[in-house]
Amino acid sequence: MFDQLVGKLPVGIGIVDENFNVVYLNDFFLDRLPHELRNDYKEKPVTELFQGQGKFLKRRLKSVFVLQHPSFSYWEQRPHIFPFKSSRPITGEETQMYQNMEILPIKDKTTGNKLACIFLQDVTAQASYFRAQQKLSEALKKEHEAQRKLIRKLDTAQSQLIQAEKMASTGQLAAGIAHEINNPIGFVNANLNTLGQYAAHLISICEGVQPHLNSFGEEVKEHIASLFESNHYDLLKEDMSELIVESTEGLTRVKDIVDNLKNFSLETSEGIQTVEVCSVCNQLITLISAQYSTPQYKFECAQEKVEVMGNPGPLKQALMNVMINAAQAIEDKGFVKLSVIENTDTVTFKILDSGKGIAQKNIKRVFEPFFTTKPEGQGQGLGLSVAYTAIEQHQGKISISSKEGKGTVVEITIPKKLVPTEELTETAPEHETE
Ligand SMILES: Nc1ncnc2c1ncn2[C@@H]1O[C@H](COP(=O)(O)OP(=O)(O)OP(=O)(O)O)[C@@H](O)[C@H]1O
Ligand SMILES: [Mg+2]
Repeated sequence: MFDQLVGKLPVGIGIVDENFNVVYLNDFFLDRLPHELRNDYKEKPVTELFQGQGKFLKRRLKSVFVLQHPSFSYWEQRPHIFPFKSSRPITGEETQMYQNMEILPIKDKTTGNKLACIFLQDVTAQASYFRAQQKLSEALKKEHEAQRKLIRKLDTAQSQLIQAEKMASTGQLAAGIAHEINNPIGFVNANLNTLGQYAAHLISICEGVQPHLNSFGEEVKEHIASLFESNHYDLLKEDMSELIVESTEGLTRVKDIVDNLKNFSLETSEGIQTVEVCSVCNQLITLISAQYSTPQYKFECAQEKVEVMGNPGPLKQALMNVMINAAQAIEDKGFVKLSVIENTDTVTFKILDSGKGIAQKNIKRVFEPFFTTKPEGQGQGLGLSVAYTAIEQHQGKISISSKEGKGTVVEITIPKKLVPTEELTETAPEHETE
């Protein structure tokens, strides 16, 4: 009865001797032997009867005989040791049987010979289920990744939109104000010129009168001399022309700022073209220094002109955002230095400030849209994320390094020539930390 039970078990049971010759096979194995061998399998090598992965099977059997220790083989590592067809074609996909195999060392009670018992378990159903689950989780992972990318894209698009809107309205406002300021500047300038000439006339009248004072009567002479003295004529003469010169200079500076403002705000996106970056940087410094007057500004460029191919709007925007951050980082005294370095195929902009710097824990986050450490209403956390996208679109790199309490360096490197892409020709401008 026991023999019958072992024979019918739904697992493979086979016994082999030290030469790998078969001593016993239960029905599970027998049913999978060719008909002609079913009554003639004993004393034949197991690897000859079942020509699957003979080498592997032999190695495992040998180790069991030598070490006298069980050996287990899991389907995931070795799915098909015996060349059996799938007994349970669950999905129809599996044509071969997935197997777990365990080999146990045993002894022949009568002869004392070493034997090995092979247990073979059909795990096609579990394997098939496991594989289906694996495929599903891979598909889910992919979907999750796609969703993550989409969310990032949406985040970026949103930040671009807000910045673009902000820039458009500030740009319009700035252009409007610049236009309005231009008119008064014009007439104040003209009036100052006339005033200068009038002053020169008045001075020459006075200068003309002075040598003839002695020809007047004593009373008139004294009266005129006291008029000169009580009105501080000498001081007026000296100071008046200086004041007019200084005012004219001040007005020229206001005119420069207004012109730069107009230049900066009117150019939004004109597509890819040659951009002379030295003058862009000069204009930028004039503008930023007018708004943030605390830092001392330095500009360094070995060449008079440096040209790159790019989209001026986003490029200027990126530089401006980084420069504003640098200027805002100076709380009391300090400097902001902008250097333009021309390399063979690229141009590097280095923006260095001696400001408060960035805390180590924040440095990885500064390019994230909406990341800000500034008080509410002062920063939206968009400057660097927009700069990052603009530089990425210019096939360039932007990196930031900083020491808290010492200062920050931002380095932007863009190629002089770039391969035109769709993104670059679009209006909207859009991270790497060290
Ligand atoms: N030069 C710098 N010095 C110190 N901190 C900086 C500097 N540049 C950037 N940061 C830090 O990075 C954060 C993100 O900068 P980002 O320009 O993206 O946003 P923001 O300046 O806070 O706001 P927004 O630019 O929208 O007005 C800042 O809040 C600040 O903490
Ligand atoms: Mg900023």
